[in-house]
Amino acid sequence: MHLLVAEDYDALSRMAARLLADALRAQPRASLVLPTGNTPLGLYRELAALHARGAFDTARLHVFQLDEYLGVTPDDPRSFYGWIRRVALDPLGIEAERVVRLRGDAPDPDAACREYAAAVRDAGGFDQVVLGLGANGHLGFNEPPADPASPTRMVRLSAETLASNARYWGGEGRVPPYAVTCGMANILAARRKLLLVSGAEKRDALRRALDGPVSPESPASYLQHSGHVTVVADTAAWPWPQRGKARWSGAVGRLRRLVLAAAGR
Ligand code: PGA
Repeated sequence: MHLLVAEDYDALSRMAARLLADALRAQPRASLVLPTGNTPLGLYRELAALHARGAFDTARLHVFQLDEYLGVTPDDPRSFYGWIRRVALDPLGIEAERVVRLRGDAPDPDAACREYAAAVRDAGGFDQVVLGLGANGHLGFNEPPADPASPTRMVRLSAETLASNARYWGGEGRVPPYAVTCGMANILAARRKLLLVSGAEKRDALRRALDGPVSPESPASYLQHSGHVTVVADTAAWPWPQRGKARWSGAVGRLRRLVLAAAGR
């Protein structure tokens, strides 16, 4: 696991965009999972600027949706598809036919999940997954408790997620209570994972993800046992002091050394 601590949100966004642009330049046919949420907005802005300067090509990428609300049509601007199209797909010039949607508006959502899972298998799994972190430790609406082998499926959103997403819907009671997610199994099997974590409200979830027990109660903690993970956090989200004489032990000691290694010190 590589851990990178950026000074602030803008630095996190630039760091993540450089990492992702390098990965996409090396693998222009990648199957790529892009998340919604506030955290990746800066990444998408930076990535679009790099793309406009010719840093990488998107013509052969295949993008998969990470999660979606149930019963919300893709033309609804509050749908995750509508969101990702506005902030990432359009600026990066990625056409609809190269995007595999999670069809939360399908008449039979279970069948739509099976179709999505088949498309992931056909693509040979995900090459690169970009993730945000829920304040309750969820990844892509895999709410705790989440099984690491959980497939693409319908989920009920937790009270914490409904409260957190109320800001996008004008009130908690308006947030769709169900969603579809690509599932933990697909995320953990991805060949590279990039987790972005910003803000003090994510600090506890990040601490549990990196240093807590690996447990269904903290779905992001499964990343501890999953290869090829890069975490980019800003200092507001980073749960440990970066300087001084803090004593590090156990897993945190290992993580601390990794941070220092990642920072080139
Ligand atoms: P946020 O959402 O980036 O809007 O905080 C992250 C998440 O809930 O996965």
